[in-house]
Amino acid sequence: MKGILLAGGKGTRLYPMTSIVSKQLQPIYNKPMVFYSLTTLMVAGCRDILVISSPDDIPRFESLLGDGERWGISLSYAVQDEPRGIADAFRVGAAFVGGDPSMLMLGDNLIYGRLDFLRAAVASHTDGATIFAYTVANPSEYGVVEFGPDGTVISLEEKPANPRSSWAVPGIYIYGPDVVDRARDLAPSARGELEITDLNRGYLAEGRLRAQPMGRGIAWLDTGTPEQLLNASNFVHAIEARQGLIIGSPEEVAFRSGYLDRAGLADAIAHLPSGPYRSYLERVVRD
Ligand code: TTP
Repeated sequence: MKGILLAGGKGTRLYPMTSIVSKQLQPIYNKPMVFYSLTTLMVAGCRDILVISSPDDIPRFESLLGDGERWGISLSYAVQDEPRGIADAFRVGAAFVGGDPSMLMLGDNLIYGRLDFLRAAVASHTDGATIFAYTVANPSEYGVVEFGPDGTVISLEEKPANPRSSWAVPGIYIYGPDVVDRARDLAPSARGELEITDLNRGYLAEGRLRAQPMGRGIAWLDTGTPEQLLNASNFVHAIEARQGLIIGSPEEVAFRSGYLDRAGLADAIAHLPSGPYRSYLERVVRD
């Protein structure tokens, strides 16, 4: 399963913070936002990941994340020269996807909790597309999905005034290799973007779109507004302070996912500056 991390966009709701540095490089509590989506892809089983961002920001992502070798993964980079929409990820990433299935994750989404359901969704994905579904208080602000007991999607609406369910669609999606041709054939929407909902509607029309509910034990937060950013920071702080664990550390996730052995983890942290992040990882190596 290839991974695509989409980390471009305009970030207008976070202006002026995004006038110099993109949204996904802003901190959520104690680490850059992109660490959370990157580690979610890693936990899901993706070791070959393409990061897509704007021409200005791609060099910053490259210097932050590197080629992935120190985390036992492969990271490559592609430029989206204009924010043409989320489904444009499969035009920009066409060569990367090649003939493989892929998982797309938006760089401003944070998913926290036991992620077995993600690994299971990857393992059981054979055809078509899989989206996820999460109960929210304000479904009108999201893509909203209605689905049957076996997960077959019945309807998909974008920001509906009168939602048919409370299930919002989080920014993480699984596709078969045909997604590249489908994205190529998509037409821009009225707002001029290649919409992920339109891409998913193509699968729905063929009865090949499945929705997998994320249980209430999972936290799904998006971080596109200043208030959401603050809430996400407070959330990460609350969990980390209570448990003494760090959420979204690529080094730790690589180790616990078996991408790095103990010696590999020790190498990965050898060049880190001393401080709480390094001390935490040194404890992980020891324990
Ligand atoms: P959005 O939050 O919909 O848009 P945005 O990031 O441009 O922010 P704003 O609405 O404040 O202007 O984007 C969702 C995610 O997808 C986010 O991580 C940015 C990313 N994205 C791209 O990388 N390219 C795109 O063309 C679009 C539309 C979004």
